[in-house]
Amino acid sequence: MNIVHKFSHSAIGAAATALKSGKLVAIPTETVYGLGADARNDAAVARIFEAKGRPRFNPLIVHVADLATAEQFCVFDETARTLAQSFWPGPLTLVLPRRADSGLSLLVSAGLDTVAIRVPDAPVAEALLRQFGGPIAAPSANRSGHVSPTRATHVAEELGDSVAMILDGGPCKAGVESTIVSIGKDGLHLLRPGPITPGDLEKATGLPVRSPNNTDTSQPVAPGQLESHYAPNAAVRLNADRAAPGEALLAFGPYAPTGDNVMNLSPSGDLREAAANLFAMLRALDEQGFVTIAVMPIPEDGLGLAINDRLRRAAAPRPEQKA
Ligand code: TXA
Ligand code: MG
Repeated sequence: MNIVHKFSHSAIGAAATALKSGKLVAIPTETVYGLGADARNDAAVARIFEAKGRPRFNPLIVHVADLATAEQFCVFDETARTLAQSFWPGPLTLVLPRRADSGLSLLVSAGLDTVAIRVPDAPVAEALLRQFGGPIAAPSANRSGHVSPTRATHVAEELGDSVAMILDGGPCKAGVESTIVSIGKDGLHLLRPGPITPGDLEKATGLPVRSPNNTDTSQPVAPGQLESHYAPNAAVRLNADRAAPGEALLAFGPYAPTGDNVMNLSPSGDLREAAANLFAMLRALDEQGFVTIAVMPIPEDGLGLAINDRLRRAAAPRPEQKA
């Protein structure tokens, strides 16, 4: 069966239904094709990482239909609103504080308290966002380490086996990924250059734009190299088979201990389920105030690579603990 569909009312309807049932849909935007999933569904978002073969959980961009919808998920200040009104719909991604009641999967922002969000300027994406009626998490629809796709056929070649549908919107107008900015006290921070230039941003806001070259190195960050991931307050001890007295246990698989201090990432040993639960369970155990979270071993393949990468970072010495 052909999974590539031209823009039609029924194709948009089928794509929205697929998203609602937790499946992946490739979506044309004005920049590049995105690999989309329901941004509120942990398991669907875990599928994105699985399909891309990413060895790490990089945070993803959330796509919404308009500014009003974006405000349900993120906190907008005056500058953010000016940027949105100036450039949306369009190739500008804003990194903003996540609203506590956003309902977004923690996996979307890899546990961070911020969300990268944008309103794409492409008829197919817009129609799907309206029909679906919710936020769509979508990284570029390529396998990890490959170039971003600008045509439906590129997606079919790389990810045809992983997606329920590919919506064909023809070649992407811009062909490069969106500009990403965050808002700092000293102006805007350009996290990734793209079609909206620093000059455009300065003109719209009257604020200086710090790019990675003219920013001091303690500031963020080339996207993808983002190190400032969520770290629990608790210490993390890896390769545990049980919790020592006073520890919490982040368990995995059918032969794990149970108890009040235990949360199991996946009792059936399913890595996708484990990825979907990872950030929420780390946070839940952390909020209970345990000094240490012991973690059972996770298989080092497929999504296990990204899960272990995250856990190793959580277990590594924290900056303030380093000599
Ligand atoms: O044009 C685009 O932006 C395309 C289309 C599909 O919208 N999407 C895209 O997504 O390029 P992706 O996943 O390939 O790149 C997202 C970038 C990553 O480099 C990631 O580090 C950064 O956005 N990012 C996401 N959330 C972030 C956050 N909360 N803070 C800082 N950077 C973030
Ligand atoms: Mg990408």
